[in-house]
Amino acid sequence: MVTLYILPDVNARRESLIATRRDLHQHPELAFDLPRTAGLVAERLTALGLEVKTGVGKSGVTATLRGSAPGPVTALRADMDALPIQETGDTHYKSTVEGVMHACGHDGHTAMLLATAEILAEKRSSLRGEVRFLFQPAEEGDGGARYMIADGCLKGVDRIFGLHLWNYQPLGEVGVRPGPILAAADIFTVRFRGVGGHGAAPQGTVDTTVVAAEFIQAVQTIVSRNINPLDNAVVTVGTVRAGHSFNIIADQATLTGTVRAYTESNRQLIKQRLRELLAGLEKMYGVRSTLEYEDGYPPTVNTAEETRLVTEAARKVVGTGVGDPYLSMGGEDFAYYLQKVPGCFFFVGSAPADRPLGSVPHHCSHFDIDERALLVGPSILLHLVDALHGGAKTPSKTEKKTTGGGK
Ligand code: NI
Repeated sequence: MVTLYILPDVNARRESLIATRRDLHQHPELAFDLPRTAGLVAERLTALGLEVKTGVGKSGVTATLRGSAPGPVTALRADMDALPIQETGDTHYKSTVEGVMHACGHDGHTAMLLATAEILAEKRSSLRGEVRFLFQPAEEGDGGARYMIADGCLKGVDRIFGLHLWNYQPLGEVGVRPGPILAAADIFTVRFRGVGGHGAAPQGTVDTTVVAAEFIQAVQTIVSRNINPLDNAVVTVGTVRAGHSFNIIADQATLTGTVRAYTESNRQLIKQRLRELLAGLEKMYGVRSTLEYEDGYPPTVNTAEETRLVTEAARKVVGTGVGDPYLSMGGEDFAYYLQKVPGCFFFVGSAPADRPLGSVPHHCSHFDIDERALLVGPSILLHLVDALHGGAKTPSKTEKKTTGGGK
């Protein structure tokens, strides 16, 4: 039995929260191309009387809620984009768009942040400072966060928070920790150029399939021999292309792969080792090589104080369910916000209760969540906002008099 302490304001919106998530789930949109999603978000935020901007970071939406007294500026972020996957689950709220589905839970993120904005808009007079809601496009690969930042979404922001529904943890768990929580996710392409020839006469050739095989073996030693075993890193070769025929020695080979690391220093170390291994192969085999290394999302690194604030807020909702997250080597463009301002990204357990834990991973075609998790996210965000912005009172008439008379 999971005990959740859902705030009454959130419970009251249970049906609309689930309805919004299912509506978004049925109408997924990709990357920056989110006319329906961003339109719905902007309309709902405008109806709350917030200062709404559209077209932020190409197709993002921001909304500002100003409290009744001066105070800090806090940004809360949700991502809105779906994935190019054909949904195979059989829910009645299945995607209606061919080949596109919300397989990561961003529909839930958008619904939760909208509910949070609605609840806070009613409490405006008791808030200090400013809460800024960021609805971001293109988290899945295109780095929408960078475009939002370039358009000034962090201007004046003191700290930022974001969450991810997390099917690796059950309902009632919240995963959070200071420091790195998601990995850097880079892409590399290696090209070898050798000397081709007859498959029966290798003498005088430089066989790029042999070099490619050697390279694939050699990169396995980066994580096993160069990285501190207590750190987390991955080097994966995902594709190998070489040769055209069984009896021709290939004069070219191309390999692509990904590098994942939790720290910038390990990321740099891996990059450097790739270069060194290639230089070694050039000497050994007389092959020529090039390395294209594309920096993807940086590591997502939480600051200590903001992590403490999230931990405290989450304890009020899931009690002892707060702890170390189920970590993955995935990347998140929330990392870009955290490079600019202090903040914390955390995971809200959402694994469907009726299936074995781990059997409905993110980015799978039968992805779904335990929708009760949609109540957990806003409850945590509201406690956070209360801790940072609560306590403002519009002075009562008597208080005003006293202040005036005291001069
Ligand atoms: Ni995601």
